[in-house]
Amino acid sequence: MTTVVFISADGEERSEVEAPSGRRLLEVAQADGQPLEGTCEGQMACSTCHVIVDAADFAKLPRATEMEEDLLDLASHVTRYSRLACQIELSDDIDRLTVRMPAGSRNMQGR
Ligand code: FES
Repeated sequence: MTTVVFISADGEERSEVEAPSGRRLLEVAQADGQPLEGTCEGQMACSTCHVIVDAADFAKLPRATEMEEDLLDLASHVTRYSRLACQIELSDDIDRLTVRMPAGSRNMQGR
C-alpha cells in the first residue's frame, strides 16, 4: 500500500488516501474526486492528467519516458517536477507520494 497525499492547486485542500501497489495514480486521483480529467485514459494522447510531484518523491519515481516528456510540453503550469498521473504506477517502493494539482483549468474541462 502507498499513502497518496493530494494537495489542491492553491494549497488549501489536502486529501490523504491509501492505495494498493499496481494502481495508477490517475485512477487513485479520480476515485478521490481530484480534478484530473485524464481524457485519453492513459493512452498517451492528452495531458489532462498532469500533476506536480513533491520534489523528494519525484526522485523516487522511475524516469518519465520521452513520450511522456513530449506530452508534458502540451500541459500548462509545467514544472521540473511535473508528471502524467496515468504513467505513475504505485509500488511498495514508494510508501508515501505527495502530489499537487497544477494551477489553471486545463486539467478538467468546465472547471
Ligand atoms: S490520461 Fe491522457 S496522457 Fe494521461
